[in-house]
Amino acid sequence: MIKPLLQLQKRTMALAGMVMAVYLIFHMLTNLTFFTETSFSAFYYWYNDGVARWLVLFTMIMAIAIHVKAAVRIRKVNAKARVTDYTKHDKFKIPALMVTASIVFLLTFIVVHIFQTLLFDATDTFNELTLLFKSIWMVLFYLAGLFVLMMHLQHSLANVLQTLGKTSITYHSLVWAGTLLLMGGFASIPLYIYFVMP
Ligand code: HEM
Repeated sequence: MIKPLLQLQKRTMALAGMVMAVYLIFHMLTNLTFFTETSFSAFYYWYNDGVARWLVLFTMIMAIAIHVKAAVRIRKVNAKARVTDYTKHDKFKIPALMVTASIVFLLTFIVVHIFQTLLFDATDTFNELTLLFKSIWMVLFYLAGLFVLMMHLQHSLANVLQTLGKTSITYHSLVWAGTLLLMGGFASIPLYIYFVMP
């Protein structure tokens, strides 16, 4: 009884995760146009002009909610199934409290980020972003959020690979390269604004 339910929750969680991963790639690539102000402003002008932004925002909120709900259910089912704790743990095992704290921080980061961007003047996203990252605290907050997101992606994708039976070093290296590229792309924007822009 527990197994099919667990499978369904895992599939739902992976599907919602995939939707978010596709958005993240799209979001990072469009944000990279920041390095040519005219393309960035033209894109966000178009994006904020119609329904695209609201459709994307709605899809993302739904995907996050479904992903988190499935994760909570899986945790509950696993906790029920494992009445006694393992006697021996992996030496790289991260304490459960730290895992929970990092997930809470990640969700806080996403919610804060969505609110901040909703408060932006939609006709001047370029200057709004520049102003945001003139603060070292915001740069540090974003770098911390990106770091936790990278670890989360790395860990989840490694689990997906394991489920698919792909355990070779090549696949794991590809996951590391992909997540590093994604996070590096995002991080380049606050770092460039704070350290390079006049
Ligand atoms: C330094 C990294 C990031 C920068 C510079 C950035 C920039 C932006 C900007 C400019 C907007 C507003 C778009 C608009 O005016 O329409 C936005 C919205 C948004 N961002 Fe980010 N973002 C970053 C990282 C992230 C990350 C890591 C996530 C997800 C985990 C994320 C999720 C979202 C969502 C859900 C929205 C609202 C939907 C949308 O407008 O596309 N962002 N971001």
